[in-house]
Amino acid sequence: MDGRHQIFDRTIRHYLAPVGEYLDDATVTEVMINRSDEIFIERHGELTRTAARFADAESYEAAVNNILQFTGKSALDNQPLIDSRLPDGSRVHIARTPCARHGTVMTIRKFAKATLDMDWLVELGSLTEQARQYLTIAVRAEQNLLVAGGTSSGKTSLLNALSTYVPADQRIVVIEDSAELQLQKEHLISLESRLPDRYGRGAVGIRELFRSSLRLRPDRIIIGEVRGGEALDMIQAMTSGHGGSMGTLHADNPRDALSRLETMAMMSQVELPLHALRAQISSAIDVIVQMTRHVGGQRRVTQISEVEPLGDDGQYRLRDIFNIQEVDGEDSQNSMQLTWTSERSGFGMYLRPEERALVTELTGPIMESRPQ
Ligand SMILES: Nc1ncnc2c1ncn2[C@@H]1O[C@H](COP(=O)(O)OP(=O)(O)OP(=O)(O)O)[C@@H](O)[C@H]1O
Ligand SMILES: [Mg+2]
Repeated sequence: MDGRHQIFDRTIRHYLAPVGEYLDDATVTEVMINRSDEIFIERHGELTRTAARFADAESYEAAVNNILQFTGKSALDNQPLIDSRLPDGSRVHIARTPCARHGTVMTIRKFAKATLDMDWLVELGSLTEQARQYLTIAVRAEQNLLVAGGTSSGKTSLLNALSTYVPADQRIVVIEDSAELQLQKEHLISLESRLPDRYGRGAVGIRELFRSSLRLRPDRIIIGEVRGGEALDMIQAMTSGHGGSMGTLHADNPRDALSRLETMAMMSQVELPLHALRAQISSAIDVIVQMTRHVGGQRRVTQISEVEPLGDDGQYRLRDIFNIQEVDGEDSQNSMQLTWTSERSGFGMYLRPEERALVTELTGPIMESRPQ
């Protein structure tokens, strides 16, 4: 931490003293402040209301303003919905009037000190060893990959874990709305967007960052979350020499992910016939990994699909490689598990010899080229 960081760390800590014990408690993953006297926490995936409260509404507002200042945002900017960050990297979302009808709401998504890696995700049961191997090969083989899922389903965590499979000599540019990804990479450039100041100046959007990133000569581009017109730039970059790019996107299933991407690409104000856009999307995106948050807080990969060339009818075609199926549990109880569908991977046949060497006995059949 530099000096400025330390000062903010101390002042923000001071203002957030009422919830300090939860910020320090590693088992608490999220602190949700609905009002100065209504505070919930998430622990082991469960929400509970706490007895914590700010002295009054003013001291709560003071805390909010202090957090905004830390990321160069100001309470006077009249932005009702703001993403910010705490000095330790925890992510903060603030909703204020007029959007929040009962006053300022703030959620603090705590920065996981130890980021989840792939081994850990397998241990947690979030995906199977076989699916992990499939994804390793997909990343190494420079497949363009989207992680789809609902709010807080573990999209960003999975993307972060997947990025460790990018070879060390490749240059990555990361583009985010609020810096969240923790990529352990040498060849890394990290760009974060900016809101306008109170005079409406100085805004830098994801789309601008994206365009500038292309001049930074990345091998791969990682977009923390695709949510606007930058979708079209991303699709075009993916089909023109930036294979192995990745991002997350809010969607309920892989098909939904494609149609959302389509809708977002249309927000770019570039006129493109629908058929041409769909054709671009289906050639850009190779693999979609679906994350789901279950009741009780467990997060799991529930589907992995490959995107095939657009059908003659102009519709997307997906090939499901893994999905959730009922399996007989050891204790004779049926449970749902991520299972290979027996579909062969479409990119298996394009693997380079060194990538082929990665294919273990387990994933081998998935990657074999399909019989003609
Ligand atoms: N596989 C997992 N198992 C258990 N907990 C997880 C898993 N992945 C992520 N988490 C936890 O769930 C929370 C949300 O994770 P994450 O930020 O990755 O989700 P997200 O889908 O990107 O959320 P958002 O919709 O806000 O972008 C974090 O507290 C994270 O530590
Ligand atoms: Mg996320």
